[in-house]
Amino acid sequence: MSFTITGTGSYLPGKVVTNDDLTAFLDTSDEWISTRTGIRARHVAAQETVTDMAVAAARAALEDSGSTPEQVDLILCATLAGEYITPSLGCMVQKELGAHCPAYDLNAACSGFLYALDAAAGYFARGRVKKVLVICAEAMTRLMDWTDRSTCVLFGDGAAAAVLEPGEDLLSIHLSAAGNNDALCIPHVNGNCPYSGYDRGPASLMMNGQEVYKFAVSAMSKGVEKVAEEAGISLEDIALVVPHQANMRILEAARKKLGMPAEKIASNIDQCGNTSAASLPILLDQLSRQGRLKKGDLLALTAFGGGLTTGACILRWAKEKSKKTAPRGNFSCEQKKGGIIMSTFESIVKVISDYREMDPEEITLSTTFEDLALDSLDMTEILMGLEDEFGITIEPDEKLENVEQLVTFIDDQLEKNA
Ligand code: UT7
Repeated sequence: MSFTITGTGSYLPGKVVTNDDLTAFLDTSDEWISTRTGIRARHVAAQETVTDMAVAAARAALEDSGSTPEQVDLILCATLAGEYITPSLGCMVQKELGAHCPAYDLNAACSGFLYALDAAAGYFARGRVKKVLVICAEAMTRLMDWTDRSTCVLFGDGAAAAVLEPGEDLLSIHLSAAGNNDALCIPHVNGNCPYSGYDRGPASLMMNGQEVYKFAVSAMSKGVEKVAEEAGISLEDIALVVPHQANMRILEAARKKLGMPAEKIASNIDQCGNTSAASLPILLDQLSRQGRLKKGDLLALTAFGGGLTTGACILRWAKEKSKKTAPRGNFSCEQKKGGIIMSTFESIVKVISDYREMDPEEITLSTTFEDLALDSLDMTEILMGLEDEFGITIEPDEKLENVEQLVTFIDDQLEKNA
């Protein structure tokens, strides 16, 4: 016994901040943000608390499923931070809804919805619950350093919820965690203990964007492949991939790895930015209300986040359309000795020309990355392709300016590994 989703809801704050709005106090531009990320605007909780957003989304989901708060057996909230360390956001929502069931929070950063679904599935398997309310709510904009243009432009606020009831529609689910506080972390506030010599540093989000980017592309695509295999379905059987919304370029790179058509990857990042745990269920609710999900559709949900965590599942969509709009590269040494430069060179040309969809003849040893007009994310993806192609690691800080330097670097690495 697993579950079926009988209702969804979401809430987006009324205040919308566009990329142009940010240029008033940040050295940035709509052009940089939209080409690097696909984000054009985000909702900011200027008035709302995290609890307000969570309750609004929960009410919409309960209404959508035709359920009342008294019927709910468990409230599970996925969030990075509610108003308090305690009481939990789950308890605050329980209070506001007037529900009488156990309630608690879990924190798996942006993978929170998948972690919550898996936890809920355990309660259904044990026969302990008939109705579970899963809520993901985040006020990411309060966790940012608004002078750091490399992070604050990426995030937005919002909440979403789903009502789960007994059923057999979770066909497979996979979670992972790889403890890492270098790629992404948000320290707690320090308090003012007079005995503490421990300074955690600023209490705002810190991120190594390119490290997270590389992790994300691989996590998103591998997650979908894994859960499809576990569910005994092919990628062609998937009606829609509903991914965590972190960066359109991550979605596009993962889509290419999966070999899926663009129309099978759902996205709302242009208007919402990254709302952490809330992003995937907000999108799910919007798709449901837009009538884009048909009864019987097989959906692949996939997410990654701080931790570093990942989650993916195959979910059969079993409900009718929601009625109302929501409150808003391999190379061996033998080969290498056979034709050292050309083999490496040819492989590099293939990776670059496939990625750029350009004529391979246009790439020569003296071609520079500047000639190819590659930005840092293009370079990250090309280097990832070359790492796969040659089975080597290329650190992002390698100073490589043209194809010839890349050939030399890769040959040196292959020599060392031989
Ligand atoms: O849910 C988990 C969330 N995290 C992610 O998904 C993050 C994944 N990573 C990314 O999406 C990308 O790494 C970013 C979009 C965050 C950044 O792109 P990038 O290509 O890795 O940028 P970068 O940090 O290497 O910076 C490139 C340039 C730098 O300027 P210089 O040194 O080349 O002159 C930055 O200062 O872009 C500059 N820059 C900006 N320029 C205008 C960084 N942020 C901005 C900005 N506006 N907002």
